Amino acid sequence: SSKPRREQRTHAARSWLRRDGRFGKEEHYEWFKDFSHFRHLLAPLLSPSLSVLEVGCGNSRLGEELLREGVTGGVTCIDLSPVAVQRMRDRLAEQGTSGVDVVVADMLDLPFESESFDLVIEKGTMDVLFVDSGDPWNPNPTTVDNVTKMLEGIHKVLKPGGKFVSITFGQPHFRRRFFEAPEFTWSVEWNTFGDGFHYFFYILQKGKRSPESNSHQVTLPAVPSFNMLHEELESEDYIFRTNVDEL
Ligand SMILES: C[S@@+](CC[C@H](N)C(=O)[O-])C[C@H]1O[C@@H](n2cnc3c(N)ncnc32)[C@H](O)[C@@H]1O
Repeated sequence: SSKPRREQRTHAARSWLRRDGRFGKEEHYEWFKDFSHFRHLLAPLLSPSLSVLEVGCGNSRLGEELLREGVTGGVTCIDLSPVAVQRMRDRLAEQGTSGVDVVVADMLDLPFESESFDLVIEKGTMDVLFVDSGDPWNPNPTTVDNVTKMLEGIHKVLKPGGKFVSITFGQPHFRRRFFEAPEFTWSVEWNTFGDGFHYFFYILQKGKRSPESNSHQVTLPAVPSFNMLHEELESEDYIFRTNVDEL
């Protein structure tokens, strides 16, 4: 059974959420697929004038990749961890990259005006809210509250027509109920990428919700490969691929 491993992973996740140890050590760290794996999906959404917010940047290269793609409208990266933020600032300074603003901030209480950004992006950050969420079909109330808060904040800081991109292993049957909550005006679509294990690339566009998506709540078609995907999820160490000792 995978139980001991799961307990170990949960323990690791808790330590990780409590402390900043992970961020002190590596040059940069991608929690999963890096830019090259989803560039084909992200590049078509970019244009020079965009102002972009990355939520939960850790010490990832995504922000600077946006500059490299020609985004000049401003790239702001936030993380709750001051250690991660300092680490990323130092790394950017060392390599001489300017133009990425790295800020300590809580995605559950975003310190930005309404309608500030054309694009908000997160990679593996919403996933953190699902750690210890219990039954994925019926996540515990804390998870539901926090995910809702995160999405409300992102929806608010997006300009009309702005897009939220969520890059995650979270499958549509677990994410759509949050994305498609009645209070949001965005359309919801997604792509997958990666081989073997599927990652999801969701695109939500503010103000573009189609009328029928208001009515279809929860009658989702069965996903034939669900059990297999779930198995893979169990075997993928993923966020918790790290050793407890490393933390
Ligand atoms: C799984 S990591 C992903 C990091 C990065 N996006 C990447 O792909 O490598 C999740 C990140 O979210 C940050 N985080 C967790 N809760 C947060 C919150 N409430 N507000 C902002 N960042 C948060 C963590 O500090 C961590 O850096």
